[in-house]
Amino acid sequence: MASNYFFMEEKFDTIEEIEKGKVGKVRIRGWVHHKRSSGSIVFYIVRDGTGFIQVTFKKEDFGEKIKEIDKLPVESVVVIEGIAKEDKRSPFGYEIEAKKIEILSKAFEGYPIAKKYHGVDFLLRYRHLSIRDRKKFLIFLIRSKFLQFAREWFWKEGFKEFTTPSFVSSACEGGSTLFEVKYFDRKAYLTQSWQLYAEAGIAILGKIFTIQPSFRAEKSRTRRHLTEYTHLEAEIPFCDMECLIEIEEKFISEVTTRIAEELSKELKELGVDPEKLKEQVKRPFPRITYTQAVEILKKKGIKFEWGEDFGADEEKILIEEFKRPFFVTHYPKKAKAFYHKPDPKNPEVTLSVDMLAPNVGEIIGSGERISDYEELVRRIKEEGLDPKDYEWYVELRKWGSVPHSGFGLGVERYLMWILNLDHVREAIPFPRTITRVYP
Ligand code: 4AD
Ligand code: MG
Repeated sequence: MASNYFFMEEKFDTIEEIEKGKVGKVRIRGWVHHKRSSGSIVFYIVRDGTGFIQVTFKKEDFGEKIKEIDKLPVESVVVIEGIAKEDKRSPFGYEIEAKKIEILSKAFEGYPIAKKYHGVDFLLRYRHLSIRDRKKFLIFLIRSKFLQFAREWFWKEGFKEFTTPSFVSSACEGGSTLFEVKYFDRKAYLTQSWQLYAEAGIAILGKIFTIQPSFRAEKSRTRRHLTEYTHLEAEIPFCDMECLIEIEEKFISEVTTRIAEELSKELKELGVDPEKLKEQVKRPFPRITYTQAVEILKKKGIKFEWGEDFGADEEKILIEEFKRPFFVTHYPKKAKAFYHKPDPKNPEVTLSVDMLAPNVGEIIGSGERISDYEELVRRIKEEGLDPKDYEWYVELRKWGSVPHSGFGLGVERYLMWILNLDHVREAIPFPRTITRVYP
C-alpha cells in the first residue's frame, strides 16, 4: 500500500474541480460507490467527498486486469488516473476514461446496503453506511453550507459565538421534556436551550449566537421531533420584540437566499425550485397574532381553546393560509415558558413570537425576556417553579438588566422546510429519536 497517497492531498484532483470544468488528464481518489459492466467496459461511480463521477474502464486499456476491476467489491478505495471529459449522457455530466487504477483499500464482499429498496428501520440500523448515498450527500452538503452561511451572517451583523454547557441545573423550557442525568452523586439535566446562560453572556459580549445540541425528552413519535437536535440561538441586548422580528426575518431571508443562489444545482437535484424558495423569503414576512390565528382555526371549523399551544394539526392549517414562512406573535402566558415578558398592554399575552414554515410548522421559538427583577420572581412563582432553581438567573436582573430578546431555530426543522423532507431525521447524520440510539 502506497502510504503517501493518504497524505499528499495536493497531488489529487477532486471531482468538484472536474465538475467545474477541469478536463484532460486527472488523478482522483475515492470510494467505489456503484459498479456495473457491459461487455468489455466496466463502469464505476466513484465518490470522493466532493462529488460523484462515472469512470469507465475499457478492456483494450486494461487487458486481463479488467476482470479484477469488474470483481472489485463496492466501497473499495481506489486511485484512478485517466482523462476527464464532459459527457452529456453520463448521470453526472462528466466522465473519466480510466487509464490506471490502484487499489488502496479492498472492501469486504457483502456490503449490506444494496442498490434496491430497503425499509426505514434497516437503513437506520445501518446508518453509518446508509449515509453513503447521493441524496444524503446533497442534504449534508446543504446542511454544512447552511451552518457556514449562518455563522458568516452573524459575524457580518456584529454577533459573537458564545458556547455554554450541556449539563445544566434547571429547566429552560418546562419539565416535561427534560432529560435527567446522574451527575456523580447529584442530579443534573441535559440542556434544552442555551438561552438562560446567553442572558448572562450578553452583559460581557453584547450580541451573541451559538450552534449547539439541545435535548428534549420527546415521548411522542412525530415527523418533526428529535430528542437531540442542532439548536441555532441568538440573544440580543437593547432589543425589544419588534427589533427581534426584524433580525429573524433578515437572518432567514438572507441566509436562505444565499443557499438558493449558491446551491441551486443541488437544490434542483433534490426537487426543490430555488426561485420559488427565494420568493418564499421575500421581506417582509406575513405576521399574525396568536388570537388572529385562533380565529383562522375557528373559521375552518376547528375546535380550539384560546390559551392552548398549537400542535402540528393546527399549525398545518395555518401554514396552508400563507404557504411561506410567517410570524405568530403574542402567545398567551399559559402556552409559553416563564421567561417571556407579558405584554404591558395586555398582560394575558406575552411578547413572544414563533416562526412557522411550510412542511413542518414551528421552526423558530423566540421573544422578549422579562428584564424586571420583581416581575420575573412573580412569574416564576406563578408557574409553580422553585425560585431557588433560578437564583443565578434572577440575579441577572439586579445588576445591569436591559430589555433583551432572543430566538432559537431548530436546524433540522429549517432543513426539513427548505428541502421539503418527509422526516426531520433526514436532516441530521445520526438521528436521536424515541425509538433508538444506534448507531
Ligand atoms: O421553541 P423552543 O422550545 O424555544 C427555546 O428553546 C428558546 N429558549 C429558544 C431561544 O429563545 N433561545 O425551541 C426552539 C426551536 C423550535 O422552534 C424548533 O425549531 C426546535 O427548537 N425544536 C426542536 N427541533 C427538533 N426536535 C425537537 N424535539 C425540538 N424542540 C424544539
Ligand atoms: Mg417553541
